Amino acid sequence: MSTEPWWRRAVVYQVYPRSFADSDGDGIGDIRGILQRLDHIAALGVDAVWLSPVYVSPQVDNGYDISDYQAIDPTFGTLADLDELIEAMHARGLRLVMDLVVNHTSDQHPWFQESRDPASPRRDWYIWRPGRPDPDDPGATLPPNNWSSVFLGSAWELDPVSGEYYLHSFTPQQPDLNWAEPAVRQAVYAMMRWWLDRGVDGFRMDVINLISKPEGLPDAEQGNQLEMVVNDPGLHRYLAEMRREVFDAYPDRTFLTVGEMLAVTPEQAVLATDPARRELDMVFQFEHMDVDHGALGKYDPQPLDLRALKASLARWQEMLAGQGWNSLYLNNHDQPRVVSRWGDDVRYWRESATLLGGVLHLHQGTPFVYQGEEIGMTNYPFARPEDYRDVEAARAYEIATMMGLPEELILGSMARMSRDNARTPMQWDGDAEAGFTTGRSWLPVHQNHLWLNVAAQQDDPHSVLSFYKRLIALRKAEDVITTGSFRLLEPDHERLWAFVRESGDQRLLVVANVSGDPLRLPAGDPFAALDGGRLLIGNYPDGAGDAPGGAEGGAGAEPGVLRPWELRAVYV
Ligand code: GLC
Repeated sequence: MSTEPWWRRAVVYQVYPRSFADSDGDGIGDIRGILQRLDHIAALGVDAVWLSPVYVSPQVDNGYDISDYQAIDPTFGTLADLDELIEAMHARGLRLVMDLVVNHTSDQHPWFQESRDPASPRRDWYIWRPGRPDPDDPGATLPPNNWSSVFLGSAWELDPVSGEYYLHSFTPQQPDLNWAEPAVRQAVYAMMRWWLDRGVDGFRMDVINLISKPEGLPDAEQGNQLEMVVNDPGLHRYLAEMRREVFDAYPDRTFLTVGEMLAVTPEQAVLATDPARRELDMVFQFEHMDVDHGALGKYDPQPLDLRALKASLARWQEMLAGQGWNSLYLNNHDQPRVVSRWGDDVRYWRESATLLGGVLHLHQGTPFVYQGEEIGMTNYPFARPEDYRDVEAARAYEIATMMGLPEELILGSMARMSRDNARTPMQWDGDAEAGFTTGRSWLPVHQNHLWLNVAAQQDDPHSVLSFYKRLIALRKAEDVITTGSFRLLEPDHERLWAFVRESGDQRLLVVANVSGDPLRLPAGDPFAALDGGRLLIGNYPDGAGDAPGGAEGGAGAEPGVLRPWELRAVYV
């Protein structure tokens, strides 16, 4: 029996169902839409799909607020549709990883509704506390502690029914489950087994490092609850218990588990992903995605400092090597589109989209491709507050306005950072609604769908789509990408992203020019070997590795010079 789990050589594709493909013309994507577009996913060569939530939900946070874990929201279809999806995917050799959102439920979940009654046996399924007396107003109370929610504002909501506050790490409509209550954990595990019995191949676990709260819920120094919660040691107990109670019940199957972990350190990630500790397979960390956050956080975006980005990823490569396992991503449904964020989506759109994807995929770990990334989809030109649909954007706008920040500044940051950028419809073709729906889409379609779409890139060997297909295929063919060691070169260079991957006698040099100006490579080893080496992949047509006759190092380029946003990976 092979000891290497399948996900070590896998690439995962993320589907955000609301925006992927609409089969019934209501303007919202659905499961039958995914079925219709499965050939596109299979043709990419990926191994698995992570499907964002399709469970019954009031959709306050687009399905990340679940009111029934074991049924499909009618917006997305039926359980029969989902069974069909599992079957159709398995028939194509694709696995299905479902989203598991168990830090919180919807406030409409029957568990929470029952829990609001202090006498209910489910009272302890959520986190209820009396308020603190308000020194300024004898009749009133203040929240039990100073924690703020991830979506800003207090993390506590006073429930008029029971006169106590409940904890919500996200919106008030997303009350946190109380994992300290054994019955909660057993209910979650039973639900997970129910999905695995249906054929599901794993879970992406939403904000999983928030489930264990510190004893006594003490005030946070900075008022930010994350600093109190994310390193709580109880997490590892729960994850190990989940492994035993859920996944160990299927000794003949190998699942994929990836835990989304806010503010996680590499040390914590090693604990969570060291195979010997039997917790998770990998985590989604945020350090590299936060390098452009300013003093006020996410909605205070700063220009990219490449040194910080490459140092962060390199640190995770080194710290997890041989111990844990990395996930690799630059896009998902919570992040603006990376080609707009850190690339150049105007002048060097194709080059920068492929450079960013290429550099990421040549790190060690399991890459995740977010829908639309494989064709280089860009941010949407949001202008007015009412253009947004995301609950996080609405809260950020409200709070920034309350703080008295200038409207222009707020709208500018929202346009750059809003999650809605990732959620505009998938661009299938140049038709009115980009082939996403026959009706009217729930979020506007980007105008650039006229030329930026799957159909236009399908048969073009130099398209972003064709590049991603080659990249995904490389992972299967080249052992050094999966197993090779990682060494960052020129860490202080502001435009050059360079590293070496090594395994046995294979030595792969990756160089990328993260700028719109030509870049002369440093002299000496290993850069001197670039032009004479065997090109594995590059993002300029004349040095793309698929050029007739087999290109060397990158014909068309001046020796030792990278062109704007050029990437090359060369065996040296
Ligand atoms: C995760 C999800 C995000 C959601 C939040 C609350 O970060 O990816 O979309 O809003 O958790 O569930």
